[in-house]
Amino acid sequence: MLRLLILLALGVFLAIRILGIRADCNVCASVSNVACISNTAFQFCSSALPSGPVYTCPTGYYCTADDVTCNTNVALRSCIGCGTCDSSNTFACLTATTFALCLGSSTPSQLVGSCGSSNVCNFNNPYICGSPAAGTQATCPGDGTGTGVDVSTITPTTYCSMVQQRGRYPVGIDLNTTCRQYIYCFLNASSWAGGLYDCPGQTYFNSSSKYCGAAVPARCTTGVATLTLTNP
Ligand SMILES: *[C@@H]1O[C@H](CO)[C@@H](O)[C@H](O)[C@H]1NC(C)=O
Ligand SMILES: *[C@@H]1O[C@H](CO)[C@@H](O)[C@H](O)[C@H]1NC(C)=O
Ligand SMILES: *[C@@H]1O[C@H](CO)[C@@H](O)[C@H](O)[C@H]1NC(C)=O
Repeated sequence: MLRLLILLALGVFLAIRILGIRADCNVCASVSNVACISNTAFQFCSSALPSGPVYTCPTGYYCTADDVTCNTNVALRSCIGCGTCDSSNTFACLTATTFALCLGSSTPSQLVGSCGSSNVCNFNNPYICGSPAAGTQATCPGDGTGTGVDVSTITPTTYCSMVQQRGRYPVGIDLNTTCRQYIYCFLNASSWAGGLYDCPGQTYFNSSSKYCGAAVPARCTTGVATLTLTNP
């Protein structure tokens, strides 16, 4: 009987935990006071509403409603809609910057398009692509060309306490400055801390290898925004 009660209590605890972490997109999570606004971006909440600067999770991490906001487990992500046709069956975002037309069906077709290098695909945007600078968030995770942490709006230690993972993360996209820097997150006693570091010499931080290298990373070369349709 006691064993049954313990099992029941465990079941209720797990159910609450699963419900708790399965929050929706743009909804403030009670555990973290953070709202995911896309698969990979989040805002802090004030009076239960997301507000203020937009922060991005490191490459390979998804925004979740868990107490650790950025998580590598894709199943925990709050914002779904990636790869799904929108309510009017017009398009589905495939990656942060590409989409497929749905042609009136609920399955994405082979007809794919690109948002160009400075726009992102958003599931709720009737124009499909929009500029992140104007507030459009990517529905699908980034493709490894994430722009990193904006250290003018968040300190490395605040960022590291969101990520809660030891490692090096990219900072920005300015060829001469932030492309040559990285944030290193580490556990200092029991709290997460982070520092801003410079790559040696004339090297750039490679967000895939997590090392500084001589080659200029793709995120540091600015492109021209174009909307191109390709029929494979
Ligand atoms: C980057 O540095 C180069 C050479 O030092 C300089 O010519 C260029 O104007 C700089 N670019 C920016 C955006 O500061
Ligand atoms: C680590 O934590 C201690 C105590 O909180 C603090 O004094 C110290 O400056 C921290 N070190 C770093 C590198 O953040
Ligand atoms: C970054 O590192 C990856 C993995 O080591 C490598 O394949 C890629 O070529 C590097 N990119 C640049 C721009 O150096």
